Amino acid sequence: MTAAGLVYSPYLYEIHDDPYPTYARLRDEAPVYRNAAGDFWALSRHADVVGAFRDNVRFSSAHGVSLDPAASGPHAHRTMSFLAMDPPMHGRMRGLVSRGFTPRRVSELEPRIRELARGHLDAALAKGDFDFMDELAGRLPMDVISELIGVPAADRDEVRRLSNLLVHREEGTEDVPAAGVEAAFTLIAYYADLLADRRAHPTSDLTTALLAAEVDGDRLTDDEIMGFLFLMVVAGNETTTKLLGNAWYWAWRNPDQRATPFADPTRIPAWGEETLRYDTSTQMLARRTTEDVTLHDTTIPAGERVVLLVGSANRDERVFSCPDVYDLDRPEAELQHIASFGFGRHYCLGASLARLEARVCLEELVARVADYEIDPAGIRRVHSSNVRGFASLPTTVTLR
Ligand code: HEM
Repeated sequence: MTAAGLVYSPYLYEIHDDPYPTYARLRDEAPVYRNAAGDFWALSRHADVVGAFRDNVRFSSAHGVSLDPAASGPHAHRTMSFLAMDPPMHGRMRGLVSRGFTPRRVSELEPRIRELARGHLDAALAKGDFDFMDELAGRLPMDVISELIGVPAADRDEVRRLSNLLVHREEGTEDVPAAGVEAAFTLIAYYADLLADRRAHPTSDLTTALLAAEVDGDRLTDDEIMGFLFLMVVAGNETTTKLLGNAWYWAWRNPDQRATPFADPTRIPAWGEETLRYDTSTQMLARRTTEDVTLHDTTIPAGERVVLLVGSANRDERVFSCPDVYDLDRPEAELQHIASFGFGRHYCLGASLARLEARVCLEELVARVADYEIDPAGIRRVHSSNVRGFASLPTTVTLR
């Protein structure tokens, strides 16, 4: 189905600026959209996006979940681990990793996350004006992953710099830039050394737990563990950084909504959830059809790339009331439908960690800050094919 003048591509800067009017048109005029030049299809309605997430037989992840050529194809699992696998490989890997990445390990991190957030916040507030992305949101998630993995404090800035290079895209390019590919190799080498060290000197970190993980005599190989460590960086770093920035930005833009968590900190989780719905950091994920799929009278042939527009599903008026309003008082029944962590077998393994980080970081902010302003002239977005959020949010705070 095509509609006159309707163009969607995750590489367009105008889509990065504001994808939502295009999403609304896609949902209404072309729910099974074809971008012939880019050689992909796009699903934008909530029901279709959720249906494809749940149908991992016809919508395969085996070629990765990105349109970027360097990150897609049959070898995608080498860098994307089980995110780029179908059953039964997916179940085996996720099962083994889950032995180490347990809910208990995540919840036990809370005091350490708070300490890390306070440290970054102290330094930022001491400066008076600070960049929310550079000083806080851009630091905390990677530090938390490094904490989990067992990366020593001295290496964390460099590991964060390399991880950020992986997801940045220059305008006009539709692939991982050379600097990103180089950063990937450097990170892989770094993790290989870490693994060798933990094998010789076990600790209580996740890397050591993954080396010991076993299901019925089956264990993870070193390559598989490195693939997973790499996946955590790709899947859990930028996404959480951008969630924090988006929460800060949209609360600033909506003072009536901002007042709620600042007056009553028990409402901070609602701030995180509504941000996840309203402007999620992971805007889309790709799949590949394994057979012909017919939706809304249009047939997508087997072997085609299909992007699932998560950001559009979250604004679907068929599911959410007044979807374009940022509203922290949404009924619980609506919150169940937020598509931001996916659905089915690939449901985000780090969802509870992302929520914990967001809650703790926002709690620490609200405890210290009475109100804030963002300088509109200094706001800058990142340009990425699937991550949505800010590179810069210059902030001035009024302290409590
Ligand atoms: C706001 C933050 C986050 C968002 C929006 C997010 C979003 C998602 C989504 C949509 C998926 C499903 C992908 C698919 O179906 O193809 C996913 C998978 C995954 N996420 Fe997250 N994520 C976030 C944070 C994290 C964190 C903090 C971690 C871990 C440190 C993490 C680890 C993973 C992993 C390992 C998978 C693969 C699961 C699988 O394929 O079985 N994520 N994430």
